[in-house]
Amino acid sequence: MHQKIIILDFGSQYTQLIARRVREHHVFCEIHPFSHNITFDESIKGVILSGSPFSVKEENALFPEFNWKESPVPVLGICYGAQLIAQQGGGEVHRSTHREYGRANLTTLSSCPLMQGVGMGSQVWMSHGDSIIRVPESFQITASTDTIPVAAFSHLQDKIFGIQFHPEVYHSTEGSQIIANFLSICGCSGDWTPLSFIEETVTQLREKIGTDHVVMGLSGGVDSTVAAVLLSRAIGSQLHCIFVDNGLLRKNEFRDVQVNYDQLGLHVIAVDASQIFLHELKGISDPEKKRKIIGKTFIEVFDTEAHKLGDVTWLGQGTIYPDVIESVSVKGPSVTIKSHHNVGGLPAHMKLSIVEPLRMLFKDEVRKIGLELGISDSLLNRHPFPGPGLGIRILGDITLEKVSILQHADDIFINRLKSEGYYHQVWQAGTIFLPVQSVGVMGDERTYENVICLRAVTSTDGMTADWAHLPHEFLSLVSNEIINKVKGVNRVVFDISSKPPATIEWE
Ligand code: XMP
Repeated sequence: MHQKIIILDFGSQYTQLIARRVREHHVFCEIHPFSHNITFDESIKGVILSGSPFSVKEENALFPEFNWKESPVPVLGICYGAQLIAQQGGGEVHRSTHREYGRANLTTLSSCPLMQGVGMGSQVWMSHGDSIIRVPESFQITASTDTIPVAAFSHLQDKIFGIQFHPEVYHSTEGSQIIANFLSICGCSGDWTPLSFIEETVTQLREKIGTDHVVMGLSGGVDSTVAAVLLSRAIGSQLHCIFVDNGLLRKNEFRDVQVNYDQLGLHVIAVDASQIFLHELKGISDPEKKRKIIGKTFIEVFDTEAHKLGDVTWLGQGTIYPDVIESVSVKGPSVTIKSHHNVGGLPAHMKLSIVEPLRMLFKDEVRKIGLELGISDSLLNRHPFPGPGLGIRILGDITLEKVSILQHADDIFINRLKSEGYYHQVWQAGTIFLPVQSVGVMGDERTYENVICLRAVTSTDGMTADWAHLPHEFLSLVSNEIINKVKGVNRVVFDISSKPPATIEWE
């Protein structure tokens, strides 16, 4: 059993970052809501209390079940977590008149194993409304800044630590060192590596699935591919993959992805259902209706194929950790902006048990596992592509002609991004078929044809994004090529909107 750290989440926007930083030091960790009652066993080596948008001074403050005063393992409180320790330990926390946000520098440091290797003047990232004025008795202050007397404090004997700033954020330049120090105080040896994850997961999958059969839908994306290769390592030919062509894939995608899967040794049933999808979508313009139809049709096609397999009892899925973490709701249940986070469920009548080999991994970890499994870099580092594919990039109703125009334009844009060296500088890129026609001239003739929009964004997680500032020469190259080669297009535009307030996709 791996050593692990438990992170109690009080709703901070940075909680997942804490987990990623811990794992960067090859230590496994789990995020639980603040109210989680920790049952300690040998594997749990430390507890981290996260930050929070709440204040310990407010009536709606969040208090954990976990009692840090009686913790059998070291505890690190970050921001709200530190204020909680200060307040519950008998120290003093004050509401500040303004929120301190941004960079600060540590001005005084006293020796403390948590701060080992952190230099005077070290830059840290602050984001807090309350300040710790007095630390509990028998605790000592271990760092300050110009503006706050208590930037860090500790109880060395009990191994309880509090820090007011956020070591998990990159702007805290020695934050990773502080996390590493805490892990070493906890006695963590760094026993969690891609290879150990693969070996363990393969063994567990074998035990869990036995001689049963698993069916899995593949999308050509990173998560489902890595999950399938792991399953295939574990159970070989008992895994049956289904790859559906919904007619809305990129140019040549159906063929290329099959070649990739073949090289990875996956047994794939490729189903060309493009006619069915296009038929179901005929005349439909509403984006949400299109999404629902694509989701429903996928399930029907998948269901039909899965039934042909006979005795299948498991459904494999490429779910990853951010989809699983039960987030602490700050403003109540989040409003659905687009329905895609809710699609993908299979009908209950299929009665399959779910197996999700990646459910404890973050995206970058999935890529590392993929690399270790021998999956090609080009597959692991490709741009995200939405499930409904070009269906939500053709504004208005979908026809075969529009799909083929968009596939051609998209292919030119993506290939140019690759050949000119911009593909990996951009987080996601694609083209959009606009529902307008415009006047143009070609030779001596007036034309009245379609407009294609280029969309390229930089981002880290798709939640926020900026439009990619691609050079004018490059855009001009792409525009010329599309207008010259793609019949039916006489105008190309470039989207310069960031998210928010725009979104990455147009629908
Ligand atoms: P938006 O447009 O919401 O997109 O800024 C954020 C990310 O989500 C992808 N996206 C989808 N993915 N089904 C998916 O699987 C969908 O319906 C869908 N809509 C948007 C989008 O491509 C971007 O990566």
